[in-house]
Amino acid sequence: MSAPFRVALSGDFRKADGAPVYPDFDLEPLRTAPNVEFAYLEPRDPVGADQIEDFDALILLGRRFTKESIHPNGRLAIVARFGVGYDTVDVEACTRAGIALVITPDGVRRPVAVSIVTFILALSGKLIAKDRLTREAAAGFAKRGEYMGLGLVGRTLGSIGIGNIGAELFRLIKPFDMKLIAHDPYADPKVAAGLGVELVGLEDVFRRSDFVSVSCPLTPETRGLVNAGRLALMKPTAYLINTARGPIVDQKALTKVLEERRIAGAGLDVLEKEPPDADDPILKLDNVIFGPHALCWTDQCFAGNGAADVRAVLDVQHGREPRVVVNRDVLESAAWKSRLIEFRKRFAG
Ligand SMILES: NC(=O)c1ccc[n+]([C@@H]2O[C@H](COP(=O)([O-])OP(=O)(O)OC[C@H]3O[C@@H](n4cnc5c(N)ncnc54)[C@H](O)[C@@H]3O)[C@@H](O)[C@H]2O)c1
Repeated sequence: MSAPFRVALSGDFRKADGAPVYPDFDLEPLRTAPNVEFAYLEPRDPVGADQIEDFDALILLGRRFTKESIHPNGRLAIVARFGVGYDTVDVEACTRAGIALVITPDGVRRPVAVSIVTFILALSGKLIAKDRLTREAAAGFAKRGEYMGLGLVGRTLGSIGIGNIGAELFRLIKPFDMKLIAHDPYADPKVAAGLGVELVGLEDVFRRSDFVSVSCPLTPETRGLVNAGRLALMKPTAYLINTARGPIVDQKALTKVLEERRIAGAGLDVLEKEPPDADDPILKLDNVIFGPHALCWTDQCFAGNGAADVRAVLDVQHGREPRVVVNRDVLESAAWKSRLIEFRKRFAG
């Protein structure tokens, strides 16, 4: 009987009292899988190499996984991120160590696209302001004519990024009869054409859109991509929506254009610093709707991410290639291939 396949869950999946933070993440398939053991790590950040020494797989929520997290014994085969952003993971270090990094686009695609639509509808309908007016009773009703919304028909939605989430946004927004444009240097023109999306230059997204939505990853290339110069190109009636990563937007520059009412407003699920400082001036603005990097958090999102990670981990245990691997180079290496053969021999019997 060979030793079990051991799976670690990063410590932030569990509360101090030991209860799961997100019960929608169904651990039953791991619990009942033959020859699998799992355990929660202590909630250290970044994950320590000594913590993963005796594990074959790691399911990683919000903790960082850096080169210091890698144990020299080479046992860890897979890091499965709970979500699709992997700016918390040192990908190169994983690749060098032969560790496959997996993400869960199937889990987040619909929930994040829905949260962008939520921002579009709440901003264009002035939902938060109208909620406030209603609570003021007669005084609020008297002012309702000052809060005219923005109709969406024929208005332009521009996305920076037309990948997993950007494309789903365009699919969901179809019935609203908007014009659809996107900038994405790596886009497949056929996918864009199939969605009725015109691919345009980056500056054109800012110039032409009534809603600019950010759906690209945070990379050295995209850090600060939404800067003062580009914000200055936006129409005064336009809104910026960011559900991707805070540092893609120069937040100081955004705060300034919002304060000066040079754009109509913003919907921000992500900020440069999370959580923000309580006295961050952006939090004082009434033309912004915020989410605490959690607008997409639904039962279905968490169940979907969990199921995808568990599937990936069990795939590796059975010597099968996991589906959505970020550092695909690892899969080509002889070391990885022989590792899979070894797992197959031990567990796929
Ligand atoms: N708010 C949340 O809770 C939440 C949840 C999930 C994902 N996200 C963020 O959303 C991002 C997008 O997720 P996804 O699943 O669509 O990823 P994806 O990789 O499928 O799509 C990203 C797209 O951005 C494009 N891109 C890369 N560089 C670009 C650039 N310089 N300019 C324009 N486009 C560029 C890529 O070509 C790709 O098509 C993630 O990286 C993550 O940071 C946030």
